[in-house]
Amino acid sequence: MSILVIKFFMSKSFKTFLKHTAKDFHNQSVNPPVVRASTIIFKSLQDIRKTQAKAKKNPIGGHYDYGRQGTSTTYILQKILTKLEESYHVFTTPTGFGSVFLAIISIVRPGDEIIISDPVYSPTRVLTEKFLKEFNIKTTFYNPYDLKSISQNITKKTKLIYVENPGSNSFEFQDLGKIIKIAKKNKIITAIDNTWATPYYFKPIKFGFDMSIVSATKYYSGHSDVMGGSLAVNRKVFNKVKVAEKMTGLRLGPDDAYLITRGLRTLDVRLDRHSENTKRIVEFLSKFKKIKLLYPHKKNSFNFKMWKKYYSGASGLMGLKIKSKNKNSIRKFVNSLKLFGHGYSWGGFESLALHQEVVETGKRKYVNLDKDEHLVRLHIGLEDSSDLIADIKQALKHLK
Ligand SMILES: Cc1ncc(COP(=O)(O)O)c(C=O)c1O
Repeated sequence: MSILVIKFFMSKSFKTFLKHTAKDFHNQSVNPPVVRASTIIFKSLQDIRKTQAKAKKNPIGGHYDYGRQGTSTTYILQKILTKLEESYHVFTTPTGFGSVFLAIISIVRPGDEIIISDPVYSPTRVLTEKFLKEFNIKTTFYNPYDLKSISQNITKKTKLIYVENPGSNSFEFQDLGKIIKIAKKNKIITAIDNTWATPYYFKPIKFGFDMSIVSATKYYSGHSDVMGGSLAVNRKVFNKVKVAEKMTGLRLGPDDAYLITRGLRTLDVRLDRHSENTKRIVEFLSKFKKIKLLYPHKKNSFNFKMWKKYYSGASGLMGLKIKSKNKNSIRKFVNSLKLFGHGYSWGGFESLALHQEVVETGKRKYVNLDKDEHLVRLHIGLEDSSDLIADIKQALKHLK
């Protein structure tokens, strides 16, 4: 089996690890093969039993008797991500939202309660507030800038505190240390959606979260051509997630796993460039009084302080809050951008721009737009930043 001859290069720096790991010395290829399988075949019935016994002894993975459990291709990705996350294990799912669902469904049962940050990714809000309500699971939302609202919502039934940082589209940075303290004091399990930063800039499991979600569709894959999700866990929740993973069948396929592994080779290089480009664009845009930048850049702001305290870098997704009575001029501004495509998702090599309608941010309790305020979301890609600035400059002429 090829897994036996795949070397997991260990180095102190994961930048080097990502470049050198998972070479296939059997096939003499720099990258591991894509092993596609529904049936996993064995030479004898005894071999099947032996593999099953090994899987029971070592539930972390690497032993399969059926394709739904993955193949060496998915296992390699899981091993790389486990090292990157510094976690006990990483589960991989067919979409990022699959990881959101898996994290939540592993922990809560009918009658339980969840507390979630108000500016959460809107499908996560709909999942908890509406869909899980049908299963008698109650969700309350807390104010990201007033963490007393977490303590106030805790009851005996609270099983999960779910954080997304920064807030989806509105980019609030929270005091993560305080959240962990509250959760530990009350013995409540914690999960965070860490897609914006990835473990390159912040490692939630090491910090104290029990679960960490990343949509691999974004920076992990980095090329806008594949979907996937990862759910990193600590030892405490591993068994619960393992059972839920088995019961839901939420597992990533080998072709997608291969593409995400390939994307990861350059994760650090791409994120450094996204970050550098975004800094230049933030500098340029900060001259415009009409525009409030939703990015951790203003040194005396709460968002900056919280980002600086917990993160080692900032990625390329940012928001512009624009005050204008002329909604059409906002649309004109976005439509006039020539180097920014218009479409959902982010984290790829190319720049994107969207005018966010309020419904897309979800019906929030605490964090909403005021009258005549508009949100434009920019994903800053890997193009030459001078070209991007020139493009934004010409489009801004339409803003009234
Ligand atoms: C913060 C965040 N989490 C999760 C998801 C869901 O990921 P996916 O689109 O891969 O299902 C998204 C998608 O946009 C997201 O922005």
